[in-house]
Amino acid sequence: MNHNLRHQSSIAQPLPSAAPCLDIAMKRTNGNANKISVADRPFHDWYRFVLSFPPHLVRDYLGNFELETGKCVFDPFAGTGTTIVEAKLLGFVGLGTEINPMAQFAGSVKSTWSANGRDLLLEAERIASLAETQIKRSRKLRELSEEQSSLLLTNSICPIPLHKSLVLRDVIMASGQHGFVDYAKLALAKTLVFSASNLHFGPEVGVRGRKIDTDVVASWLENMRLIARDLASVEGNRHLNSNIYLSDARTLIGCLQPQSIDAVFTSPPYPNEKDYTRTTRLESVLLGFVSSKEHLRQLKQGLLRSNTRNIYKDDTDDKWVSSNEKIQRIAGEIEQIRLGRGSASGFEKQYHKVVKQYFGGMARHLSELRPYLRPGAHLGYVVGDQASFYQVMIRTGEILAEIAESLGYEVLRIDLFRTRLATATKQQMREEVVILRWNGNI
Ligand SMILES: C[S@@+](CC[C@H](N)C(=O)[O-])C[C@H]1O[C@@H](n2cnc3c(N)ncnc32)[C@H](O)[C@@H]1O
Repeated sequence: MNHNLRHQSSIAQPLPSAAPCLDIAMKRTNGNANKISVADRPFHDWYRFVLSFPPHLVRDYLGNFELETGKCVFDPFAGTGTTIVEAKLLGFVGLGTEINPMAQFAGSVKSTWSANGRDLLLEAERIASLAETQIKRSRKLRELSEEQSSLLLTNSICPIPLHKSLVLRDVIMASGQHGFVDYAKLALAKTLVFSASNLHFGPEVGVRGRKIDTDVVASWLENMRLIARDLASVEGNRHLNSNIYLSDARTLIGCLQPQSIDAVFTSPPYPNEKDYTRTTRLESVLLGFVSSKEHLRQLKQGLLRSNTRNIYKDDTDDKWVSSNEKIQRIAGEIEQIRLGRGSASGFEKQYHKVVKQYFGGMARHLSELRPYLRPGAHLGYVVGDQASFYQVMIRTGEILAEIAESLGYEVLRIDLFRTRLATATKQQMREEVVILRWNGNI
């Protein structure tokens, strides 16, 4: 790979204007680069998670890719659907895959604009009043089963807000109105995380303080009002096709038509110690997307390998990168440090495997994607440098670009999105956008 493709400039130093680059993210300050603006709240803000990237990033890049209206944008790691929603708002067809059922549900609902806002609100008001009555009449607090509770972070939610949420959930599920339940469940997911629970995101999910009681129904109704308002405002793009498949980005068969994708914009997991299923655990359990430990294990097994909690003995994605020197060197260095320290920790033994399985999985995804791309398609992958394993630096964007090049993609450049200071090493960690083009040669 031509390393000049990578912009070395820091956020404080604008890129040289001669570069044919997307100076897009750089035009914003580091602090606000990842924030959602008030103007971007419609649809996007129905439910987002800490892993979401901001809509402006998608918009800027799709603009730069110079796509014509009606073209097809794909997000293989769709999360809560930022790319798909933004694509639809801009007049593109939006398709995605996502393996976490809660996120896939959220993205799908956020990009389904078929309901009538006024009818939705009327039903929401009826449901709220029913739920309030049932809550007032309750003699006993509703609880989760022991197994469900064991899946939650300890003290995620106090008994009274939990009780109210469970009553509201069941009243919602009993609504007979077509098309209402999914919006209502999504509004409840948002209420659970941001109003009812004790969860705190910073950026890891944790528990802070205790909300002994909260007005769960009022907060849910407020979220429903926002959804109804956004639906009422939809004009021309209501019927544009969009779909997020509950599927693995490494095995795309059955999801897409050959040579149908005009652009990709996505952010896969990064190789670090984040357990991606923790972020959505509370709402996943309460809404029935994860019902048991076994279910959770299956979900983790479907994820791209990116942390020590989802490495399994039968994993084989590493064979995709067995000849990549950089990856083998980094993995070797990490394992040498562990051996040097004499660590027998089960987690630390997995560190070097995460690196190989992660990049192997990304190689498998990029390989699988090729038949579905239209020749000339542009792709943007947002990824971050990591140093989670004994502080060995992993330049994720640079390595991903190298893998893509080995699979026949053209690497156009690597843009800096933002930087963050790693407190342990005092090094600037780059979050970058790897820009590729598929020219149609497998
Ligand atoms: C960084 S998040 C994407 C966030 C998204 N851009 C948004 O704005 O909400 C990465 C996503 O990849 C998903 N993921 C992990 N492994 C996957 C796989 N094998 N196939 C599809 N999605 C996967 C995770 O569940 C997570 O939602």
